[in-house]
Amino acid sequence: GLHLFDPARRNSRGYDLGDPGVPEALMAAIGAARRGDLVAAPIVGGAAREGRPEPVRNPATGATVGQVIEADAAAVDVAVATARAAQRDWSLAGGAFRAERLERAADLLEERDAFFLGLAMDEAGKTLADAIAEVREATDFLRYYAAQARADFAHPVALPGPTGERNELMLEGKGVFACISPWNFPLAIFLGQVSAALAAGNAVLAKPAEQTPLIAHAAVALLLEAGVPGDVLHYLPGRGETVGAALTGHPDLLGVAFTGSTEVARMINRGLAGRDGPIATLIAETGGANAMIVDSTALPEQVARDAVASAFQSAGQRCSALRLLCVQEDVAETMIAIVAGAMAELNVGDPAILSTDVGPIIDAEAQANIAAYVAEARSAGRVIAEAARTVLPDGGTFVPPVMIQLDHVTDLKREIFGPVLHVATWKGGELDALIDAINASGYGLTLGIHTRIDAVAAHVAARAQVGNVYVNRNQIGAIVGSQPFGGRGLSGTGPKAGGPHYLHRFAEEKSISTDI
Ligand code: NAD
Ligand code: ALA
Repeated sequence: GLHLFDPARRNSRGYDLGDPGVPEALMAAIGAARRGDLVAAPIVGGAAREGRPEPVRNPATGATVGQVIEADAAAVDVAVATARAAQRDWSLAGGAFRAERLERAADLLEERDAFFLGLAMDEAGKTLADAIAEVREATDFLRYYAAQARADFAHPVALPGPTGERNELMLEGKGVFACISPWNFPLAIFLGQVSAALAAGNAVLAKPAEQTPLIAHAAVALLLEAGVPGDVLHYLPGRGETVGAALTGHPDLLGVAFTGSTEVARMINRGLAGRDGPIATLIAETGGANAMIVDSTALPEQVARDAVASAFQSAGQRCSALRLLCVQEDVAETMIAIVAGAMAELNVGDPAILSTDVGPIIDAEAQANIAAYVAEARSAGRVIAEAARTVLPDGGTFVPPVMIQLDHVTDLKREIFGPVLHVATWKGGELDALIDAINASGYGLTLGIHTRIDAVAAHVAARAQVGNVYVNRNQIGAIVGSQPFGGRGLSGTGPKAGGPHYLHRFAEEKSISTDI
């Protein structure tokens, strides 16, 4: 059953950004921690490898934040062979040994948070509030998986049997895992995957997204400093189609933890199926087409606050983000007007300016795709609201938030990964048809429901085929240990990050029966 190991475990501390002086003090600390000499070189066997440096750019300004060196084929081969040779000892060392190292890394991360906050802002275009949430979530993952390693991976569990027989069940690492992560949570998801795989006793090949190698490099350096052996954890930056494909095609791999698009998850799945060697585990967490259902009893101001936060925080670049607002017809006009009013108040621009609510799109390619989608909707007369308060710096990649009217909820066919909120209406009495239509998209990540009728909330929550349901609140920012996060169907293979069963997906079970 569900168990809560270590009830004394606490999530990391936050900052009160509403307290005058706190944001300014934090920005000063971030400025002081900023470094001009960052090079994310591959780390294999604890040593940096050489290669041709390429610039990493700030998406808000185009300024160079540091350099990255792509891992070559030899680096991948040496890393896999080294990891394979080291994995058994790491698994045999036990859950408590591994937990100590992850907890030390969490302490170091908290101590040096200004450096990591700055990188999340500079490299990934995060606002200060998003950067704080990012570093906290990463810290929480480290401590949560450490606690679980202590509880479940330290000692075998005794099972019943006849007199004269001892039965035990134990968990151990599977082998070598590749962890492949996206740019939108470049520290939290990167470290979440890596720490889960390590906690369960695996050796890890970590490949960050192309856009965000620097913060991932710093995270790996931190884990190594905290005592994770250099032959157990390797850092392999580079493009998906080169380094990613070389990793997932490798016959010695026993598992892949992937977070990113549904399309790439499918490619990895096909690649794993086609390669020689053992049948590897794929843990995939992918995209969403997340809806919020609003009925005629919902509180308009609350809907506006939660819809705007869910759709536009992080510039809509969250897998959990609200994409489709479904408003009951009789209240649609008022409800949409209030949401539009809240959208108009958003400040779009450089996150280095503290009043910014919505920062940049991650790169020029993503920006061009979203902008083309918005332009098409605009020429069809479907853009019905937008954020007007934009002060865009030169050299950045931005898309101001928009609201797009759809004729029907089924008109949204795919994930648009940016600040684009679609809105459609539904008729009272047709709630079940609406839920069926939302489920029929095939995605199953988050669903929001706003209603003052508890029975309606319970009805929707029970029928929604999603991983995370949120009632009368926003639908983003899942908290480690409180809202285990992950979806189903086109949204992933179902493990819940930050939940009590996640580590088990990274582990093998072994039963030992002894005649005594
Ligand atoms: P992406 O799929 O383009 O890339 C993700 C990672 O896969 C990157 O590291 C990339 O280099 C790598 N990759 C690309 N091609 C590969 C290949 N052929 N073989 C191996 N690896 C390859 O996604 P992205 O643009 O970085 O991130 C945005 C997407 O991630 C969105 O769809 C979003 O919904 C999803 N996401 C999901 C979750 C979740 O928990 N469900 C969380 C965050 C983001
Ligand atoms: N875990 C992230 C969220 O809930 C993706 O927004």
